[in-house]
Amino acid sequence: MPPESPLALTVNGARVDVDVDARVTLLDLLRELLGLTGTKKGCDRGQCGACTVLVEGRRVNSCLVLALTVAGCEVTTVEGLASAGALSPLQRAFLEHDAYQCGYCTPGQLCSATAALAELGAGAPSAVTPDGTGAPILSAEEIRERMSGNLCRCAAYPNIVDAILEVGA
Ligand code: FES
Ligand code: FES
Repeated sequence: MPPESPLALTVNGARVDVDVDARVTLLDLLRELLGLTGTKKGCDRGQCGACTVLVEGRRVNSCLVLALTVAGCEVTTVEGLASAGALSPLQRAFLEHDAYQCGYCTPGQLCSATAALAELGAGAPSAVTPDGTGAPILSAEEIRERMSGNLCRCAAYPNIVDAILEVGA
């Protein structure tokens, strides 16, 4: 059995100390070792976005991140988006707009949308922001671009965009 290394990080506000094999991904750490199965494994190769979580507030495909590389970081999964038993505004908006369908991709969509709105709020341009340098304006085009790494095979895209637009407005 390969040697394991100690890893300390914060997950959804709680300190976590574990020993992990250097080959374990953040996704497998969350699901298999910590039992946080809200984050889903779709393609396991960076193509679907189902495994998206936040590391230091920025979204990452957790299937592509080795767990040991997030030592000392703050990780937020879908389980951490609600607080004190109350859904986040995006979670509520997804419900109201019928943007939850299969439920498999939704955790990644919610984490990604949370960070996308923060990026917009911070003025970070995307590939569709005019000139690529100016301050982005909340629009369906910006949301579609920023959510393009999260696939929804049942085509709830219009409802997802509507939900995110409502919360970002
Ligand atoms: S499971 Fe990570 S991108 Fe698909
Ligand atoms: S809601 Fe998950 S594939 Fe569409």
